[in-house]
Amino acid sequence: MKWRTVCCMALATAITTTAAYADGGALFLQKCGSCHKKGGQAAPVNPADKAAVVWEKFFDRNRHAPDISASISADEVKSVVEYLKKFAADSDRPETAAIPK
Ligand code: HEC
Repeated sequence: MKWRTVCCMALATAITTTAAYADGGALFLQKCGSCHKKGGQAAPVNPADKAAVVWEKFFDRNRHAPDISASISADEVKSVVEYLKKFAADSDRPETAAIPK
């Protein structure tokens, strides 16, 4: 019986984790992509543009030039950063074309 509990917990964790990245990815495309797109007000940005440590600190240290706090909450930025780190330049599967250049 016990293995079932362990199994379910592992599955639940996997699903939650995937959902967090999926949300982060969707938020990234929607919120960041509203400006960072071809022909938009800023150049396209992709997870693989930077290493995970750089993404980790980018918003913490207010490196983003325009203030975007009106259009994206701190929690949303957090899940976007999780997504960016997961597919960063030094990840095992860097994502270069989330927003087409
Ligand atoms: C209101 C429009 C807008 C939104 C929303 C926005 N940005 Fe930006 N971003 C800009 C502008 C303008 C610049 C500075 C000009 C440039 O570098 O193209 C910039 C600069 C950047 C840079 C620096 C460019 C570089 O190559 O180092 C990164 C990285 C970045 N944004 C990532 C993001 C991410 C991630 C999000 C979503 C959480 C986001 N931006 C949301 C407008 C926006």
